[in-house]
Amino acid sequence: MRAVDAEKVYFSYGAEEALRNVSFTVDSGEFVAVMGPNGSGKSTLMKLILGLLKPSKGKISVFGVSPSAQREKAQQYIGYMPQREGISKKIPIEVKDIVLMGLTAKKRRLDFLSREDIKIAKEALESVGMLHLWNKKFSELSGGQQQRVMFARALAVRPRLLILDEPFNGVDIPSRNKILEVINSREDLTTIMVVHNVNPIVHFIDKVLLLNKKAIAFGPPKGVLTTKNLMEAYGASIQVIECAEGYCHPILGDTHG
Ligand SMILES: Nc1ncnc2c1ncn2[C@@H]1O[C@H](COP(=O)(O)OP(=O)(O)OP(=O)(O)O)[C@@H](O)[C@H]1O
Ligand SMILES: [Mg+2]
Repeated sequence: MRAVDAEKVYFSYGAEEALRNVSFTVDSGEFVAVMGPNGSGKSTLMKLILGLLKPSKGKISVFGVSPSAQREKAQQYIGYMPQREGISKKIPIEVKDIVLMGLTAKKRRLDFLSREDIKIAKEALESVGMLHLWNKKFSELSGGQQQRVMFARALAVRPRLLILDEPFNGVDIPSRNKILEVINSREDLTTIMVVHNVNPIVHFIDKVLLLNKKAIAFGPPKGVLTTKNLMEAYGASIQVIECAEGYCHPILGDTHG
């Protein structure tokens, strides 16, 4: 089954074009990476899949549903971890409430949390080693801890589709591995992950979308991560190194993870 189907999608913020004629498909159970330089439209594309934005032209469907026209239905399927810049670091509530908020948003009943919900929220935190912070204030966590809590929140809605926008930003290697372990252990889960550095996930992903307003290349990593495609995406000034097994990746002056 198709998890995501994007057909000739365009999007502009006012006069500024962010995406141009982007088409790609993600099958159920696939793990897809989205790469591209700063401002290339990656987060915008994630918001279109979530139905937070609506294409100016073209069509997106998520498990057969239009996320902008049937946002509530589409959101039942999706666990979302926004890019760190978009998360207020001063949220004056506790870790448990952050994770439970994801569940209540799905139910649309703030007053009704079952024991099962609490159990699910605890399991999600446990899976990224954060359960001991259950009663801690979110604002008092370190950046990497906040990221892990946001991942747990996305996971707690038991999504069919996980959308992670630069989830490893500020996250240490053991925590990154924990997150990857969780993703890889769920075969039925579809994952779309925005990353700047593809190396940690290159052996797990089925496909890569290389984006710079338009889709420069899409498909299995070996065919997409070529010097030619990376040059086209990042510009001729970028250094591209070839790794041992034939995968290429750009060396980025690390912007944000
Ligand atoms: N709310 C907004 N209003 C106006 N322009 C926006 C808005 N959000 C993004 N843009 C513009 O759209 C373009 C794409 O932004 P987007 O956030 O999708 O890029 P990105 O690929 O996620 O970049 P980064 O790697 O820095 O996260 C940029 O030129 C940006 O300035
Ligand atoms: Mg972004």
